Parts: sequence; structure tokens; C-alpha cells
Amino acid sequence: MATARSLRCAAFAAALATLGTACPAAAVTITLSCSALGTELELCREGAEAWAEATGNTVELVSTPNSATDRLALYQQMLASGASDIDVFVIDVIWPGILESHLVDLSGLVPQEDIDQHFPAIVDNNTVDGRLVALPWFIDAGLLYYRTDLLDAYGQTVPQTWAEMAEAAAAIQEGERAAGNAQFWGYVFQASAYEGLTCNALEWIDAYGGGLIGDDGRPTVDTPQAIAALEEAASWVGAIAPPGVLNYTEEESRGVWQAGNAAFMRNWPYAWALSQGEDSPIRGLVGVAALPRGEGEGAGHTGALGGAQLAVSRYSEHPVVAADLVRYLAGYEEQKRRAIAGSFNPTIMALYEDPEVLAANPFFGELFDTFTHAVARPSRITGARYNEVSSAVFSAVHAVLSGEAAAAEALADLNAELNRMSRGGRW
Ligand code: GLC
Repeated sequence: MATARSLRCAAFAAALATLGTACPAAAVTITLSCSALGTELELCREGAEAWAEATGNTVELVSTPNSATDRLALYQQMLASGASDIDVFVIDVIWPGILESHLVDLSGLVPQEDIDQHFPAIVDNNTVDGRLVALPWFIDAGLLYYRTDLLDAYGQTVPQTWAEMAEAAAAIQEGERAAGNAQFWGYVFQASAYEGLTCNALEWIDAYGGGLIGDDGRPTVDTPQAIAALEEAASWVGAIAPPGVLNYTEEESRGVWQAGNAAFMRNWPYAWALSQGEDSPIRGLVGVAALPRGEGEGAGHTGALGGAQLAVSRYSEHPVVAADLVRYLAGYEEQKRRAIAGSFNPTIMALYEDPEVLAANPFFGELFDTFTHAVARPSRITGARYNEVSSAVFSAVHAVLSGEAAAAEALADLNAELNRMSRGGRW
């Protein structure tokens, strides 16, 4: 009788021929690099082990740094040496253009009907020069977390603008400190000099109707909207946000928030399942909304688009088996399990209609537009140069937040730097 594995092997025959690999006769070991934000590593391990059990293969997991910037540096180092030690990489939504030359084209290795289940925009994002270099795994969008109990206690409502957020944060902070919690802060977010700060900054600027780089490739960051946005964010540091926020990534903000020491937090969806976990001191006291808007014409609610994809290394000795693991992890059942257990937003459209997924994560339905209209970082247009762009952005923004530079000057310099980098927008 044909096993599922041998059937899949037959289906991959064409791809096998081009890759010059034989159908795996014996079980192999696949090494998978997972990110480790919150529950990510544990969920990744459970999924990979379920696949290993079903297929008879073995998996080994490599955990990678939490900071997306550090993780990219590590991946680039590993891939540059052409080493075959890692078969499957979890890659950020902004990396296909940076890493594509090291990744296998999955289009011949994963059935088209599996690919078609995902949001087309993400499949598009992961397609570089006609090659599908990664399968979508989960979507992230920046969200505003708030304490429902504290908004009630202080007669506040969910803030619609950043100014309202700052006002509510200040009122709650003052009250909580007066009540004896000296460690309480109004707002925590990510302002360490890394990729996460680029996400936060893009959100502030987008909320005011500004942007980083236009569709024609030209930098657009020297605008009154961007200046207003950064001036506002800089005013939070040391006032409603701890000075230490300048070194915070996602997990440091969640630490303060989940200990019950913040009224508001900006974070990704993964923080929902953890905030509402059985051992969480704030369980049952958490609300989630779209991030506030700025002021003036063009202002709107916002959220940066993030998320992870699964890719197979070109240097893998087992690309076909590795692609099968990727297909499994990105598939319906596994995305459903991760959505329920860890509030990872599926990239499979049908899961947004799944009652169990929606019951575990009411905001998936309520904020559907936030996820489908999230603002993308300029990684498509800048391609392989994106990391350089982002580092220029987060360095400039970090200088403004830490009071080393005025917003107007820093943004004018940043615009000039991006212009130089791209020779006037020709990335
Ligand atoms: C999350 C997002 C990713 C982003 C990173 C920034 O992991 O999914 O897209 O680059 O945070 O810190």
C-alpha cells in the first residue's frame, strides 16, 4: 500500500529531478531554526515533533535571538558560509528580498492548493523574481493593549488618538503611584535600537498620514507629519514610559505589562495568549484595540505589518523533506493549533471564520481590518538593502527618543541619508 510519504514523493518527482535529489528512502534529521518570542519556541517544537512522529523523520530545533535584528545577522552569517546545518529557517516578513538567494523555490515542492489558502498579499511578499522563497506562517500587526479594569477605575475610554492615549496613561499612572505602586508606568513599547523600533516609528508616522519611502522609491520621511509623530513619541520617554524603554524589545515591554505595571502596551498578537494565560496576574483584565491615530489630515488608526514565514535553505541536504515540514507547519491544522494556544494570527484566510479560533481570540474578528490593512515596512521596494534602511531609521529615531537630536533635524538627515543610499530612490 502506498504510504502518504511515498505518494508525496511521487508528486514531487519533477521537483526532485531539478534538485537532483533522490526520494528519501530512509528517515532523516531536519534542523529547524525557530524564533523564541514568548511561547514561540515551545509551539514550534510541538508542531515539528508532531510532523516528525507522523513521517518517521527526526527534528532538531535551534533557538535564535529574540531581536529580529540580531537574528538576521546570525542567519546571514550562517547562510553566507553555505553551511547545511540548518534546513528550515523561520524568516521575518521583511527578509525575503534579503535572503532569497539562499532559499529554495517552494512552488514546485508544495502543492498549489496549499499555497492558495494563504492571503495572496503575503504569498506575493514572499515571491521574489517569480520564486516562492517562503510559505506564510503567521501575520503580526502592532496592537494597543489596555487594562480594562484601570480604564474603568479612572473613568477613561479606549484612546482613539495618541494624545488621548498619553493623557489617559498619565492619569492612570498618577493614580496608581499615589495608591502605592511606585513602579507603575502609563505606556510601554519597543524603543531599543533594533527592528522593532522601526515598526513602532512607522506606526507613529503612519498614524499622522506620513511615511518612510514612497512607491517610487524616494524617501518621504522629512515631513511635518513625521516630525509631529516623533516629537510626540519623544515626549513620552521618562514621563509616561520608563527611561529604560530605550532598551526595550517586545519581551521587556511584556514583562512590565504582564506584571501589572503598565496601563497600555504596544505589542504583537502573541502577547494576548500570554496576558490571558492561567498564571498571568492580569488575566481577564486585558483589552486589545487598533493603535491610535495622529491628528490632522491623513491621520488614521494603524498597525505595522509583521509576521513570520517558513523557508528551506538552498544548502539543505534534504530539501524535499524540509519542504514537507514547512508545508505541515504552515498548514491549516497547525496554524489553527497555534492560533488557539498562542494567538498567532493565521495566514490561512479560512481560519478567520473558524469558531474555535475566534472564541480564543475575539480581536482576530474585531480587528480583521487592522490585520489586512496593516502598514508594510518598505522591504519590497528596497529589497536586499532593507536592513540598511531600517538601521538608518531606528538609529535616527532612537537619537530623537533619547533626547540626543531634535525630530526635525534627525528626519532631515535621515531623508538625505536614504536619498544617498538609493541614489535618489533607485534601490
Ligand atoms: C515581530 C514581527 C516581525 C518584526 C519584529 C520586530 O517578530 O513579526 O515582523 O520584524 O517583531 O521586532
